[in-house]
Amino acid sequence: MNAIEIKKDIYWVGAIDWAVRDFHGYETPRGTTYNNYLIMDKDITLVDSVKHDFSEVTIRNISSITDPAKIKNIVINHIENDHATGLAEIMALCPKATIYITEKGKKGLDRFFKTSSWDIKIVKTGDTINIGSKTLMFLETPMLHWPDSMMTYVKEDKLLISQDAFGQHIASAVRFDKDFIVSESLTMLDDSVIDYYANILMPFGQLIKNKIAEIQKLGLEIDMIAPDHGIIWTDPSKIIQMYLDMANGKARLCVPIIYDTMWHSTEEMIPHIIQGLADAEVDSKVIKLRATPYSIALKEFWKNRGAIIGTPTLNNLMYPTVAQFLHMLKGMRPKDRIMAAFGSCGWAGGAVKGAYAEFANMKLEAFEPGLEVIYKPSDDDLKKCREFGRQFGEKVKEYHLKFE
Ligand code: FEO
Repeated sequence: MNAIEIKKDIYWVGAIDWAVRDFHGYETPRGTTYNNYLIMDKDITLVDSVKHDFSEVTIRNISSITDPAKIKNIVINHIENDHATGLAEIMALCPKATIYITEKGKKGLDRFFKTSSWDIKIVKTGDTINIGSKTLMFLETPMLHWPDSMMTYVKEDKLLISQDAFGQHIASAVRFDKDFIVSESLTMLDDSVIDYYANILMPFGQLIKNKIAEIQKLGLEIDMIAPDHGIIWTDPSKIIQMYLDMANGKARLCVPIIYDTMWHSTEEMIPHIIQGLADAEVDSKVIKLRATPYSIALKEFWKNRGAIIGTPTLNNLMYPTVAQFLHMLKGMRPKDRIMAAFGSCGWAGGAVKGAYAEFANMKLEAFEPGLEVIYKPSDDDLKKCREFGRQFGEKVKEYHLKFE
């Protein structure tokens, strides 16, 4: 795909990765893009580099606008591999360019590249550079989502280049939200925003709220947000509100049952738990971990107010896929969700207890006791499953009211 002008004299020169499905272990069924932006001014400036595998594409896109040797400045908003590993190829074409980066970014860059001959200037929040008719202002966003992260604001164009924040993993022929004119695509775009937030930004809700408040306090006028992945936002208010909602714990009144099973006994319990949830007028969704990427299970967890974990006992422990899911979830430091667990065991049990120990580790509210059955659920056990689902459904509704 060729360069596209997103604002007068500012071009998207990124690359579309239609085929990536495993993004450092995160499932990306819709592919992704690596966005970067070329600003044609007296001092030609490239904001963000590209993943090494796609450096040829970005260089070709730059070359369709100008000779890359004429690039005077390169801003590196974020040094993670998907954005910065192509930097050496770009620098080889404009070796005299000045790199603008945060202090932590420079330390990282020094680990990834031989930088001794590069002109690198460290910037911090509020620093500006004038590149001719346009002014770039830098805004550090440490731990959103790496220590080096920052954003670049192009004052005259009211454009915020936001690196990973506000991004989505979507490979698409269109570049702007306004071009997603079919309602199905709008749903897909929203779903991709939630997916990205759940898998990358879930731990950073408070930082997100603080940073949005800081931007609002600075009084920056923003009429376009251009992230480093996916679609560019011409309606910034929509995506900012989505982020604030997620950071404030907004979720649906629905319960995913996230489970695995050995000999189907744990699985047999699920329809009855669903019936109990329905008795409480709470919707549900079923996610079998051996059949679903963890990243999608994380997204479904995040979208909904409560979750029920189903796990058989294996050697007195949780089933490995369930343990792995909870391990990943713990890393995302989830908040504002209520949990319960159930499962089948042969004799001593232990998996349900293990799940509750993980809920406690994560400081998540839990509905207790969990439900454990021996070998195969009896008719009486299945009645207990329905009652377990109903009671949990009532509890979720009560908990949900805190966020209304
Ligand atoms: Fe898209 Fe944190 O890299």
